[in-house]
Amino acid sequence: MTRRPRRNRQSEVIRNMVEETTLGLNDFIFPLFIIEGQNKKIEISSMPGINRFSIDTLLEEVNSCVELGVKAFAPFASIPEQLKDKMASESHNPDGLFPRAIREIKKNFPDVVLMTDVALDPYSSDGHDGIVENGEILNDETLEVLGKMALVQAQAGADIVGPSDMMDGRVGYIRKVLDDAGYNKVGIMSYTAKYASSFYGPFRDALDSAPKKGDKKTYQMNFANSREALIEAELDTQEGADFLMVKPALAYLDIIKLLRENSHLPIAAYNISGEYAMVKAAAQNGWIDGEKAMVEVLTSIKRAGADIILTYFAKDYAQFIRR
Ligand code: PBG
Repeated sequence: MTRRPRRNRQSEVIRNMVEETTLGLNDFIFPLFIIEGQNKKIEISSMPGINRFSIDTLLEEVNSCVELGVKAFAPFASIPEQLKDKMASESHNPDGLFPRAIREIKKNFPDVVLMTDVALDPYSSDGHDGIVENGEILNDETLEVLGKMALVQAQAGADIVGPSDMMDGRVGYIRKVLDDAGYNKVGIMSYTAKYASSFYGPFRDALDSAPKKGDKKTYQMNFANSREALIEAELDTQEGADFLMVKPALAYLDIIKLLRENSHLPIAAYNISGEYAMVKAAAQNGWIDGEKAMVEVLTSIKRAGADIILTYFAKDYAQFIRR
C-alpha cells in the first residue's frame, strides 16, 4: 500500500494540521427571546438552556455573551395575545416591546450586531407570516406591513433586517422602503430557502406563534425541492439581499452547499429550535454526548458551506471553548 490515509490521522497535531473546517465565534448569530415585564428569565421547556428575558435581564444576557465573544444577535419578541390582530399592527408600533428592546440593546452595546426578524406571525392573531383572508395568505397586502415593520426596526437600530415570511417580492419591497427613508446602510439577510418544517415547534412554543389554522405550505418551501431554492436565491439577489439564508440547517445541508456553489453572497444557515431540542433531549437522556454532538452539528453546517450560523448553541459553544 502506497496510500495510507490513516497516516494523516495518527496524532492530534497532524489531525489539527489537516483540519479543513474551523468554527469561530465570529461565525455565530445567537437568537434571543424577549418578554414584557421586569426581572424575568423564564426557561422554554422545549429548549433547555434557552430563556425568555424581560428587557432588563436581556441586557445582562447580552453582556455575558459579549464577554464570551458572541457579538451578533437575532432577537424575537413574545407578544401578549391581546395585542395580536389580523393585520399584525403591533409589529410596527415604534413603542412596542421589540423596538424598545432593540433601542436598549444598541444604547448599552453599540458595537453588537442585531439581525431582526421581519414576519407577521408573532404579532398575528392568525399565527401566520402574512395577512389571512378566507383561509388564504395575501401576498402583496402583506408586503406593506413587512415594509412598515422593517422600517420601525431600522429606526430602532437594527443593523440587518431578516425577512422570514417567504412572501414574493419582499426583499425588493423592503429595500425600497428602507432606502426611501434613508436607511441604505441597513442590510437584508433574506430567509431565502425557508422550508415548511416540523422542526420549528419549540420556537413556536417560545413565542406562542403557531398558526391557529392550517399550515405554512403555501409560502414556505416543500422540503422535497432543491432547484426551487435556486429560484428564490436568484430573486433575492436581484432584489438586493446582502446575505442568503437556508433554514432549517441539518436536514438541508445539500441546500446550503447548493447556494454556496451558486452565489457570491455570504450564506447563512439557521440551526433551528427543533434541531437544538433534539440534541439537548438526547443528551439529557444520556443517549449522546451533548457537547460533542454540538460541535459536530455546527462543524457540519460550516463544512456544507455556511459562512454564518444562527444557533441556540452560540453561547454554549463560547463557554465550551473557554473551558
Ligand atoms: C418567523 C420565524 C420562525 C422561525 C424564525 N422566524 C417560525 C416559523 O416560520 O414558523 C423559526 C426559528 C426556529 O425554529 O428556531 N417566521
